[in-house]
Amino acid sequence: MQTTKTKNTSTENMLFLKDVEKGLSAKQKYLPSKYFYDEKGDALFIQIMNMPEYYLTNAELDIFKNQTDELITALDLPIEQEFDLIELGAGDGTKTKNLLKALNSKGFKFTFIPIDISQNALNNLENSVKEELPEVKLTPKQGHYFNVLNEIKLFHKPKVVLFLGSNIGNLEDNQAIDFMTQLNAVLEKNDKVVLGVDLIKPTHIVLPAYNDSQGITKQFNLNLLQRINKELGGSFILENFEHLPEYDENTGIAKSYLVSKIDQTVLIKALDKTFHFNEGEKIYTETSRKYNSTILKQILDNTQLEISHKLTDSKNYFADYILNKTSD
Ligand code: AVI
Repeated sequence: MQTTKTKNTSTENMLFLKDVEKGLSAKQKYLPSKYFYDEKGDALFIQIMNMPEYYLTNAELDIFKNQTDELITALDLPIEQEFDLIELGAGDGTKTKNLLKALNSKGFKFTFIPIDISQNALNNLENSVKEELPEVKLTPKQGHYFNVLNEIKLFHKPKVVLFLGSNIGNLEDNQAIDFMTQLNAVLEKNDKVVLGVDLIKPTHIVLPAYNDSQGITKQFNLNLLQRINKELGGSFILENFEHLPEYDENTGIAKSYLVSKIDQTVLIKALDKTFHFNEGEKIYTETSRKYNSTILKQILDNTQLEISHKLTDSKNYFADYILNKTSD
């Protein structure tokens, strides 16, 4: 109890509390997917990325490993000009290290600025870059990429921004439009964005990625309820909820839900409130949008960011789009 009280005083915890109250009070109940990522959720996501069904990570790694020269050519960077290479949500940097190595060996001058919410991930990344590529200048930054865009504006060198892993796919289209509009506003003419997106493809490939046979994605989804139990004094019985992924190959939108297996009422002590779930009622927990060029162009419509190149992996599952800011 003491722990819950202490934690409740933090701003982060207050936001979590508010979002949970709002989401579980809505007609269609929902919980924002950003709350997947506590320590346990981070570890589960690493496991997901290693699942055979979760093709996204290897597909993008294929591009970064096997088309590094094409990627650098597409970025069209003048060799004499120093630039900042900023990665939003850098994680363990496995893909990016291929690019760092190639840029370094070609004699480009740049500072790598990985941004991540997890200080632990940044420390590991810093250590591995220092060890493997000691010549690369590195300035890690802790924070959520949504909140650091304004700081990026203050950097005055030309920018290459990496936003990989189909992280944009976890935003609803209106949120993705807002995010790309904000990103566009902190960039200057000729700055570049490398945007990694999962491509629209048939259900039999996409759905297993969100419903792996070992049940890791199920645990990842249920971790939201476990977090509510741990941090907000919730009384969710995890066995009473089922993990349900859905995918519509016409729209390219995958959604995950938690479905109540029975009629049940759950108390959340920190809210001093109960929530009722009917049998079969769904809590919507995540969108994982898949893209094509038409959809991406619609998302970029309000910006001066234009698609200059599209690099895809050998199976044509995933794309890294190179976006160029065409005017100030
Ligand atoms: C982080 N993000 C791109 C993942 C995705 O594919 O939407 C999160 C994830 N959710 C379930 N599995 C993986």
